[in-house]
Amino acid sequence: MSREDTKASIVYSIPGVRMPLFVIGNGCVQEIGKRIKDVKGKKTIVITDRNIVKLGLLEKAIKALEREDIGVDLFEEVESEPNIETVEKAIKIVRGKSYDSVIGFGGGSALDAAKVIACLATNEGNVRDYMGANKIPKRGLPLILVPTTAGTGSEVSPVSVLIDEKDGNKNVVSDSKLFADIALVDPLLTVRLPGKLTAYTGIDALCHAMGAYITRKANPMSDALAIEAIYLISHNLRRAVFRGEVDIEARFNMALGAAMGMIARTNSGGGAVHGLSYPLGTKYHLPHGQSIALLMPHVMDFNVISAIPKFNRIAQAMGEKTEGLSEKEAADKAIGGLKSLLKDIGIFQGLREFGVKKDDFPEFADIVYEVSYRHIEANPRHLAKEDVIQIYENAW
Ligand SMILES: [Fe+2]
Repeated sequence: MSREDTKASIVYSIPGVRMPLFVIGNGCVQEIGKRIKDVKGKKTIVITDRNIVKLGLLEKAIKALEREDIGVDLFEEVESEPNIETVEKAIKIVRGKSYDSVIGFGGGSALDAAKVIACLATNEGNVRDYMGANKIPKRGLPLILVPTTAGTGSEVSPVSVLIDEKDGNKNVVSDSKLFADIALVDPLLTVRLPGKLTAYTGIDALCHAMGAYITRKANPMSDALAIEAIYLISHNLRRAVFRGEVDIEARFNMALGAAMGMIARTNSGGGAVHGLSYPLGTKYHLPHGQSIALLMPHVMDFNVISAIPKFNRIAQAMGEKTEGLSEKEAADKAIGGLKSLLKDIGIFQGLREFGVKKDDFPEFADIVYEVSYRHIEANPRHLAKEDVIQIYENAW
């Protein structure tokens, strides 16, 4: 492996490797009572969804809170894509009942909702006042986030994505005040996640890590986290998909990799895959992980020529054999490795299989440029609108 020796000549500006206190451990959800006391909580509300409650995933956490005499209520109305009205409803409840802390418990949606709910409990106004970046004046209530997928990385990110039910658009609130106080990651909470969901959320996590690694905003610190996340996810996702109920080590490594990938992304930047996935979510309502899986190999295919040393290292992290190959051949192995991973876990599919029409692509490209430009501006290879259209066609 050749090291890139040009690092010394570059000026880096790194956001500060920001993250919450990160706790990971099999069974660590049983510490939640003590952890909420650490953040001075006595009366807390758990933001979650009905499915989590139905599956009994909350039981140990509730018992652990009760053991420490913490008052606990549930708000279980978060949808699979959290909408603003639901979040506003929860904010009203939290403000009215003087909770002193918030717990987000579930997939990315419950965690995204909890971040905004905790923040708006101590700030005036409503959610729409804070859409965009860095508009929140004060820190929110103390917040613990407990993910049940691996994952969106929401537990370590300062971003919430909320749906505006009026127009179906995704809105982003991004602010360092959204960081949780504690990310409490218990991989045992993910063992019953079905194979398909494990596959989609795992590929989303891999995409965060790869995007963070190849973006033009990448830096040595984010690189270190991103490449390890790529290693962890690509070596454990198949195991988590096919024997996730018994392979606790795979679940642990996926949970760790998902968080590391998102911490890398928070300290470098997003990627074009997420930019291009936006219209698939808003126009065709494809779940986030699914649209990522559909586009990722084609965006990476487009990018490989512009970041050959980095793709070479991705290939090595994925365990691809690169000895004796040219740099370009080795870089291409990363794309081959990604495609075979997607095939193995059963999600290497085309947009056509989901009813997406080719005629939509020019409009999609306009939307990407208008709404998601922040995701594509730091892509290692310049993405003209025609390129965006071509990538959609390749993914069709
Ligand atoms: Fe994502």
